Amino acid sequence: MKADVIVGMQWGDEGKGKIVDLIADNYKAVVRANGGNNAGHSISVNGKNFAVHSLPSGVLQEGIINLIGAGCVVNPKAIVQEINKLGEDFKGTLKISDRCPLVLSKYIEEDIRKEKEKGDKSIGTTLRGIGPTYAGLKNREAFLVGDLLNIERALDRYSLENIDLIKKELEEYKEMIGQYICDGISEIKKQETILIEGAQATMLDNVYGTYPFVTSSNTIVSGLLTGSGLNHKNIRNVIGVTKAYCTRVGNGPFITEDLGEAGDLIRKIGKEVGVSTGRPRRCGWIDLIQLKHAVQLNGITSLAVMKSDVLDTFPIVKVCVAYRNIKTGEEIDYVPYVIEDYEAVYKEFDGWMEKTYGETSYEKLPRNLKDYLEFVSESIGVQIKYISTGPERESTIVCEENEFFGVEFRMETAERICEYYDIANFMKED
Ligand code: IMP
Repeated sequence: MKADVIVGMQWGDEGKGKIVDLIADNYKAVVRANGGNNAGHSISVNGKNFAVHSLPSGVLQEGIINLIGAGCVVNPKAIVQEINKLGEDFKGTLKISDRCPLVLSKYIEEDIRKEKEKGDKSIGTTLRGIGPTYAGLKNREAFLVGDLLNIERALDRYSLENIDLIKKELEEYKEMIGQYICDGISEIKKQETILIEGAQATMLDNVYGTYPFVTSSNTIVSGLLTGSGLNHKNIRNVIGVTKAYCTRVGNGPFITEDLGEAGDLIRKIGKEVGVSTGRPRRCGWIDLIQLKHAVQLNGITSLAVMKSDVLDTFPIVKVCVAYRNIKTGEEIDYVPYVIEDYEAVYKEFDGWMEKTYGETSYEKLPRNLKDYLEFVSESIGVQIKYISTGPERESTIVCEENEFFGVEFRMETAERICEYYDIANFMKED
């Protein structure tokens, strides 16, 4: 069995859903391995826009198994709402691992209460009960999806105060999702090819993100292995997804945030509003230090660069190449625990000032955009496989091997990278 992984390299909302949807029919199954309905993946098919939250992005494709893996938290009400909203466009087969913790109403209440109590020090969570549900699991007091198959036994496991309320909620949940429950590992072992769809992203990882302004799951590849039931030997390719710029929702450090006109323009042109919560996203420039962090943590083998067309009208495009300590002036090239002490050091590129929206050929991209993309790719040592030039499936450049590199770079660097990451084999297997 072979599995490829799609993982976000920034703070989420990179456009992972589009890439999953684009390649999902090469796989027998799409697996979600972390998070819950805090995620929001937008997909545009045949001119119709969809947003999926808890459901894997393969649900719009016929004949695909869509597994919600054990690392996900499950809110059955949200799942049913999503299925109903998709209506006849819901085409795949849905399975939910019996090991997923259930989001109980009390966890949602707790999330809302805690965020309120924190006031201006709040995390800015999606208020969907995600953190308290994962905490319930770690505290060994959660109810899992498999408990819906024997509610009495599950209730008996704990000493509970409001047992009737919980029993009622579990019974309702059983009605809603009972038909989808499975043993996740048996399910994935039946599949020849699997696509694992990461939710949220590297910088929101509970350990390696901008703690405590993170989500409560492990969003990096190691977390996705736990959350899917796969092991490292099953993994073939890891596609890292990044925007051509950077955004974040919620609070916490964002070193390349642009609080001026450029940030506003990115938000406007890129329609940067949260899919799950409708919150305006904070916007800024691409950050190579952060992307290198993501490459290391995830073992990324190829890149998908999204929304480069959003920058079409910018005379100057900035790239963060180092972090500088505000007090000492020392420059570093890694993501430190206390990011607040640093500011971004930028390299500026001349913009391409040309419409690239909907472009499908790398050859036809303006030279300045190619320079920009090649610099990003070369700096982090990973080849670009996809460039997204618009929300539709068709608005995508699929790069041939080495296509996006300049001649000198192709000679000197690409070979080394291909060898290191086994990219030549990746391309062949594709
Ligand atoms: P929680 O996951 O709802 O607990 O929220 C924790 C942090 O993660 C907040 O800053 C959220 O805005 C952020 N977050 C959670 N899910 C997503 C996502 O899918 N995209 C972007 N940010 C997210």
